[in-house]
Amino acid sequence: MTSRKGIILAGGSGTRLYPLTLAISKQLMPVYDKPMIYYPLSVLMLSGIREIAIITTPEDQEQFVRLLGDGSQWGMAFTYIVQPSPDGLAQAYILAEDFLDGAPSAMILGDNIYFGHGLPEILAKADGRKEGGTVFGYYVADPERYGVVAFDGEGQVSEIIEKPEVPPSNYAVTGLYFLDGDAPRRAREVKPSPRGELEIVTLLESYLRDGALSVERMGRGYAWLDTGTHSSLLDAGNFVRTLAVRQGMQSGCPEEIAYRQGWIDGDQLRSHAEKFKKTAYGRFLFGLLEASPQHPVG
Ligand code: TTP
Repeated sequence: MTSRKGIILAGGSGTRLYPLTLAISKQLMPVYDKPMIYYPLSVLMLSGIREIAIITTPEDQEQFVRLLGDGSQWGMAFTYIVQPSPDGLAQAYILAEDFLDGAPSAMILGDNIYFGHGLPEILAKADGRKEGGTVFGYYVADPERYGVVAFDGEGQVSEIIEKPEVPPSNYAVTGLYFLDGDAPRRAREVKPSPRGELEIVTLLESYLRDGALSVERMGRGYAWLDTGTHSSLLDAGNFVRTLAVRQGMQSGCPEEIAYRQGWIDGDQLRSHAEKFKKTAYGRFLFGLLEASPQHPVG
């Protein structure tokens, strides 16, 4: 069985964050102490994924390469792919078809941030489904702003409705999609929507029609933060800061996850920590070297 590969979709135009994003990609903006892309990257790492394609605009690719390199510093392998224009989320599967080479995938949007104690477990559940797809439904107070999951009598997803006036549930579809190796073929069949994009919902509908889509619910105790506007970006930063200051724990720290997964050893972790030694981030990494390796990931 081919192991699952990751995609981070970090293109887009970020017009809702102007003028911040006139010269810099949204996904490189700071969320408290780290670039935004560290957070979705960490989610893929928690899923055990080591091979990742990072999709960016042509102009921004160079800066992502400067930040993330080839991934070997974290025991991973990164491939960079350009999206010439922001033609929709489903296009990622067409652009990444050669990279995926038939493998199942987990795609995450570069501006979505997740926290939650049970995250590794539900990621493992999604990874365990070798056929079909899994989306993650997050309980929100204002579902009419999102793509919303309708459930059938058995609690299975029956429909996904974009911005419904009368929401069938409170579960919004988040920006994380586990799909099988058939996704690029299905994506090629998606026709552009009236706004000219290859919509992810249309791709998911193709799985739904075959009864091949599952939903994992993120209920109480999870945070799913979007960072697309000035306010939500600041809120996300404050949230991360609260966790960091109150608990002395990092969220979205690739060095920590790589170390706990056994992808880098203590010497490698120490050299990362040395580089950041003037920061709380670096001190946190030094602390990991002294702590028990049994401390749970998550
Ligand atoms: P959006 O927030 O929908 O779009 P955007 O990032 O261009 O921002 P704005 O609405 O402010 O103009 O995108 C969600 C995520 O998906 C974000 O991380 C960018 C990414 N994306 C792409 O990489 N390619 C695309 O074609 C689209 C539509 C989005």
